[in-house]
Amino acid sequence: MGFGNRHRLARRLKVAQVQRVIVLRWMIYTVFPLFLLAGVFACRAAPPIVTIGQLAEKGATVYSNRCAKCHGADGQGLLAPPLIGETAGLKKYETAQNLLTYLSSSMPFDAPGSLSTEEYSDVLSYLLLQNQFASGGVEFKQNELSHILLK
Ligand code: HEC
Repeated sequence: MGFGNRHRLARRLKVAQVQRVIVLRWMIYTVFPLFLLAGVFACRAAPPIVTIGQLAEKGATVYSNRCAKCHGADGQGLLAPPLIGETAGLKKYETAQNLLTYLSSSMPFDAPGSLSTEEYSDVLSYLLLQNQFASGGVEFKQNELSHILLK
């Protein structure tokens, strides 16, 4: 092997070494942190969406167990005013939030406040859906109920 060849070989080895260091640095400072970041975001992934339709299904049961005896099986009114359909007077509450506030403080008439927070959300959703104040696919957001207008 001539001097020139050996020189070239040494240079090539050195270049290869430097490249390896660059790749290694790149892995440590860029790729690894990106994986970490991706992991953190994956762990903070949003909880599954709960829709008004899903709650309304449970709300139908709450309604028939706790409300129907006074308001009628279909919300048509009985001993108490109608809650579903043309004759119902829920529009005066203006927002789903106001209706929920009324429900959870005053209903059932014979045992106000006796339902769980969850059951009130369920039966509220049932009334919203049955009166077409909201569609079933809409996400139920506890803190945005004032945006659902009863009209
Ligand atoms: C024991 C009978 C009874 C039961 C059970 C009952 N309610 Fe009522 N509800 C009434 C009466 C009576 C009124 C009228 C109250 C008034 O005018 O102050 C009323 C009024 C309402 C109103 C207001 C209607 C309007 O036009 O302003 C809503 C909404 C309502 N009830 C929802 C419910 C829901 C939901 C349930 C079940 C969780 C329920 N009620 C259970 C007797 C009942």
